[in-house]
Amino acid sequence: MNKAKRKTVIAGNWKMNMTPGEGVSFVNKLKEIVKNQNNCGIVVCVPDIDMQSVSEALKDSNIKLGAQNAHWELSGAFTGETSVNMLKAFNTEYVIIGHSERRQFFGEINLSVNKRLKTIIGSGLKAIVCVGELLDERELGITTEIVSLQTKIALKDVAPEQMKNVIIAYEPVWAIGTGKTATAEEANRVNGIIRGVIEDLYNKDIAEATTIQYGGSMNAANAKELLSKENVDGGLIGGASLKHEDFAAIIAAAQ
Ligand code: 13P
Repeated sequence: MNKAKRKTVIAGNWKMNMTPGEGVSFVNKLKEIVKNQNNCGIVVCVPDIDMQSVSEALKDSNIKLGAQNAHWELSGAFTGETSVNMLKAFNTEYVIIGHSERRQFFGEINLSVNKRLKTIIGSGLKAIVCVGELLDERELGITTEIVSLQTKIALKDVAPEQMKNVIIAYEPVWAIGTGKTATAEEANRVNGIIRGVIEDLYNKDIAEATTIQYGGSMNAANAKELLSKENVDGGLIGGASLKHEDFAAIIAAAQ
């Protein structure tokens, strides 16, 4: 396996935090600190309502804009939803899908993740597909089965040449927002399982070229060790992405 074959991507998931004004002052500070960090992709996934103002603030910076979800249809009677074309109007490049909070609170299932993924990559955007087991599933010893199933269903009918626009984020649900991080060895092991699934579905080259992030209480203190692992190609960061010094420290750890 060769880490050099894939891009490291550090993405912040702001979740339902930051008004448009707060978002702009945040990225104005962040872009100054990270302006010379060019060895990894840097993304902020913001609430839809922040998109226009944050997109303006990010112009001419090395930080890319991401969304936290997108609908699988391009338009129509879907009250409260956002289409990929609406996101693209603000130069959005990335969309998170299948986040455990969407699965837990908003009825997201593997098949709807797959529908979203096909629309997102079909429109030229990049997707960050979240997978990860619940604590009960981990304790039952079925982590491999759960992440394999989630990955396989998410990637149903995704063509090999589209895989360059797919990032997988392994986010063990018990580690999200809890301060409990998977050990670097465990994150590496599960990310390796996901890479094996991609190899089975496609081939070794595609598996080695796919960015597989870790997410779940990643912070300034533990990022370096996690990111040093062979199969950990970046992070999807919640809480620590809301503090510009902490997020910048994670980006620096990825260099
Ligand atoms: P925390 O970093 O707050 O644990 O959140 C992780 C996450 O859910 C990112 O999508």
